[in-house]
Amino acid sequence: MGELQDQVAAITGAASGIDLEIARLFYQEGAQVLLVDRNAEALKKAESEFHDSGGRVCSCVSDVTKSNMVDSFMEEAVRRFGKLDILVNGAGLQHRSPIVNFTDQDWHKILDVLLHSVFYGIRAAARQMIKQQTGGKIITLSSAASVVPCGTTAPYCTAKAAVNMLTKVAAVELGKHKIRVNAIAPGEIETPFIQHWLARPMWKELVVRETPLRRMGKTTDVAEAALFLASDRSDWVSGHVLFVDGGQGLRGVDYEEFGI
Ligand SMILES: NC(=O)c1ccc[n+]([C@@H]2O[C@H](COP(=O)([O-])OP(=O)(O)OC[C@H]3O[C@@H](n4cnc5c(N)ncnc54)[C@H](O)[C@@H]3O)[C@@H](O)[C@H]2O)c1
Repeated sequence: MGELQDQVAAITGAASGIDLEIARLFYQEGAQVLLVDRNAEALKKAESEFHDSGGRVCSCVSDVTKSNMVDSFMEEAVRRFGKLDILVNGAGLQHRSPIVNFTDQDWHKILDVLLHSVFYGIRAAARQMIKQQTGGKIITLSSAASVVPCGTTAPYCTAKAAVNMLTKVAAVELGKHKIRVNAIAPGEIETPFIQHWLARPMWKELVVRETPLRRMGKTTDVAEAALFLASDRSDWVSGHVLFVDGGQGLRGVDYEEFGI
């Protein structure tokens, strides 16, 4: 029996990268999974890779920046599977520019996808979980960049820092309903999300050098953390930001390396 047997999970951003990997692991562990993404084509492809014959996977095209669409996919999970136990707020996008060149439009777009969508998701999932009176698990995708200011990514860092606080406030409010709310803060994970950076070999070299564990992250590193937070193994964990970054966010200095 899997660790998430008969649990129902809705996962946003699930057409790609980290969130798709989380969906794969949750499915493998027995969950019923609703894949949510705005990219219809990629979503269809992702769904087909599950070769699901037991009716445990379905997908829903949705733009998480629209609160009515977030409410709808939550209803869809309940309509398909009868309940909602787990929400993973994973959808994300990136746009780089120095602050002086950032347009209002791009600033708002990033905040909409990375922050406002998380609020809509937590609210809708919590309403359903409170109605069910069965508790629940809500996981938000933060980033090591929530505590490390990175130039040219002002709205991204700002949104992720706010996600950490939103996660904690939600944990405080929802604990009495046995709903646990936690964040995962990954370091650099090789997904389409960072393709433009990966294209510069120097960038990868820099990241690996700055990461105590001396490698890039893998989507499976994050999926394992999500399984921990979604399963009973973390029953006493709420309001936590779990860094899954090989120690990169510490921004520590290894004096030995400099011969000091
Ligand atoms: N890859 C990394 O290095 C890294 C590091 C730290 C945090 N994260 C976070 O992890 C999450 C997943 O990142 P990833 O690397 O898997 O990215 P990805 O680009 O592989 O996947 C993101 C998915 O989100 C979807 N999406 C974007 N806007 C949406 C919207 N409005 N509505 C619905 N879906 C939308 C995209 O279509 C895409 O399928 C993001 O929140 C990201 O900020 C990633």
